Amino acid sequence: MKEVRVGLIGTGGMGKAHAAAFRNVPLVFGNEPARPVLDIVADLDEEALKTWASDFGFARYTTDWREIIADPAVDIVDITTPNHLHAEMAIAAAEAGKHIYCEKPLALTSADAKRIVDAVEKAGVITIVGFNYLKNPAQAFARRLIQDGELGEITLFRGTFDQDFMADPAVPFSWRLDRQLAGSGALGDLGSHTIGLAQFLVGDIVEVCGTTSTVIKERAIPGGGSGYAAKAASDAPLRAVENEDITEALVRFANGAIGTIGTSRVGTGRKLGLGYEIQGTKGSLFYTQERMNELQLYRHTDPVSERGYKTIYIGPEHPGYKAFFSLAGIGLGYNDQKIIEAHELMTAVAQGRPAYPDVRFAYGVNKVMDAIETSVGEKRWVAVSEFEAQ
Ligand SMILES: NC(=O)c1ccc[n+]([C@@H]2O[C@H](COP(=O)([O-])OP(=O)(O)OC[C@H]3O[C@@H](n4cnc5c(N)ncnc54)[C@H](O)[C@@H]3O)[C@@H](O)[C@H]2O)c1
Repeated sequence: MKEVRVGLIGTGGMGKAHAAAFRNVPLVFGNEPARPVLDIVADLDEEALKTWASDFGFARYTTDWREIIADPAVDIVDITTPNHLHAEMAIAAAEAGKHIYCEKPLALTSADAKRIVDAVEKAGVITIVGFNYLKNPAQAFARRLIQDGELGEITLFRGTFDQDFMADPAVPFSWRLDRQLAGSGALGDLGSHTIGLAQFLVGDIVEVCGTTSTVIKERAIPGGGSGYAAKAASDAPLRAVENEDITEALVRFANGAIGTIGTSRVGTGRKLGLGYEIQGTKGSLFYTQERMNELQLYRHTDPVSERGYKTIYIGPEHPGYKAFFSLAGIGLGYNDQKIIEAHELMTAVAQGRPAYPDVRFAYGVNKVMDAIETSVGEKRWVAVSEFEAQ
């Protein structure tokens, strides 16, 4: 059994999800080909960090993330900090020869994402980026159906990611609304997952035309808490929101399919409204993350009298599920996707092979995001190739 030592940077919402995933990898998948060791964790507030490290079973902690990069004992640097820090941390990790687990969006711009790709490919390290929704066994199965031609030629992809966590105007300002720290708003935070799914299932997006809206233009400056848990006093001063609440884009794929990518962080009623409808000449698929254990499949080749969508419950025949349960329909949850993601990285590191989706895949998502933002700014269709190798 090989041990792979993890150095985690960031103990917010995603830091917790990553730590829980690594702890659960051996419980779900066993100790082979490698067992993660929660070695060292970094964040800014030393007192809170000390408790957090002990609660999650990390052997050591530091308030200086560069100590993790410089530590010869660390094999994987796991980056769960706000978006603006990903590039600096990932490049430093690659240059130190560390394997990398980084949250999405990989970088603020495709130019920064390319710098990460260059550093990673020069160092020859293994990477995975947190597009965890691709790890739902339903998605690998959907991709197999599409690649096997079961849907015929793909004609349309309509994808969404709507949530309503920012719909209440009383929710205070946070790093997600600060352009320098987050980049785009709903597009990078949520829509990057939809773009990832679109490119995983249908193929490369080559041209986009987008529009955006910022519904709530000012929010209270928080007095405590962070991330989703930030709180503000009722008389707190206001700060202008610097990125969009909603993005909608028309898209064209390299294979001729067309579609839409839509995302909102003020989408009332939508709690985890990541989903898609994919139509092809022989059939269609419908999926929503709010029912993540089900995939809807329609075959236009069925007898006319029997045509209609059917529900497929994910089970051991769908890649990634079998390690959890041997019967279909019992069901996985969000954190199980993270366990599958962490296991993919552990296995790739132990076997010395690439993990998926890696920083090059994530760079592709960043290019589409840049194209959409440029399209919004310049009010025109934009080719994704405009952001090639910048
Ligand atoms: N894959 C997903 O489903 C998903 C979901 C939510 C967030 N994310 C991504 O995860 C990342 C983090 O989001 P979050 O919701 O966990 O944010 P968060 O605000 O909850 O946590 C960020 C943490 O990073 C810490 N931090 C900031 N600067 C630091 C530094 N210099 N050194 C060490 N620690 C530092 C903060 O103190 C905080 O604890 C973002 O890139 C976000 O887009 C991904």
